[in-house]
Amino acid sequence: MKHWDQFLTPYKQAINELKIKLKGMRGQFELDSTHSPIEFVTGRVKPIASILDKATQKGIPLDKLEVEMQDIAGLRIMCQFVEDIYRVVSLLRNRNDFEIVEERDYISHEKISGYRSYHVVIQYPVQTIHGEKKILAEIQIRTLAMNFWATIEHSLNYKYKGAFPTDIKMRLQRAAEAAFRLDEEMSLIRGEIKEAQAFFTRKKETAQEEKK
Ligand code: GTP
Ligand code: MG
Repeated sequence: MKHWDQFLTPYKQAINELKIKLKGMRGQFELDSTHSPIEFVTGRVKPIASILDKATQKGIPLDKLEVEMQDIAGLRIMCQFVEDIYRVVSLLRNRNDFEIVEERDYISHEKISGYRSYHVVIQYPVQTIHGEKKILAEIQIRTLAMNFWATIEHSLNYKYKGAFPTDIKMRLQRAAEAAFRLDEEMSLIRGEIKEAQAFFTRKKETAQEEKK
């Protein structure tokens, strides 16, 4: 439908631009040969069917989507360590190309489901041929372990439509605890890991220099 195309175009543009910008941050850390708090970045525009489903579920009128649905444009930043998440959040706060309108910390306040992540909602200005258009985008910042859990839980949610059998619900909660402990253990040996990664990057660079 032409109407949807027009509505979603600025969101698509925003996702493309933000993916480049956020991946660029990773590249800058690599140049500095220091541990990058960003492991990888993904982004998507919510499919029309999901927008309609969510609008119905939440009672959002279609003419209010722009202001009331914050995740039509969604980005994810994956980190190795929980500490990296807060570094990324602070990097985002210091940027001048968008405005943060909301932050939700589901790490210090994890959800009952076991879900953990840090959410930042931004207002991002897109330049269009009709002038500037500000759109909302949701950035989820999480560790690889948090991402693993959320991805699995999301698939199961899809299958069971949120009504998990008791045993699965219990296993998911235990898996969430295991992911939490994994993040804690990794944090404890973070110094060692970072040192090893920096050493490895230096070795790679030296090898490349020698080839030149
Ligand atoms: P939404 O209506 O889903 O936007 O909820 P909200 O407005 O309260 O925002 P919230 O920050 O809680 O969640 C937004 C997004 O976070 C969701 O679209 C999911 O991507 C993710 N999320 C939140 N809770 C869960 C959860 O329990 N499991 C998984 N897998 N993802 C979650
Ligand atoms: Mg939301």
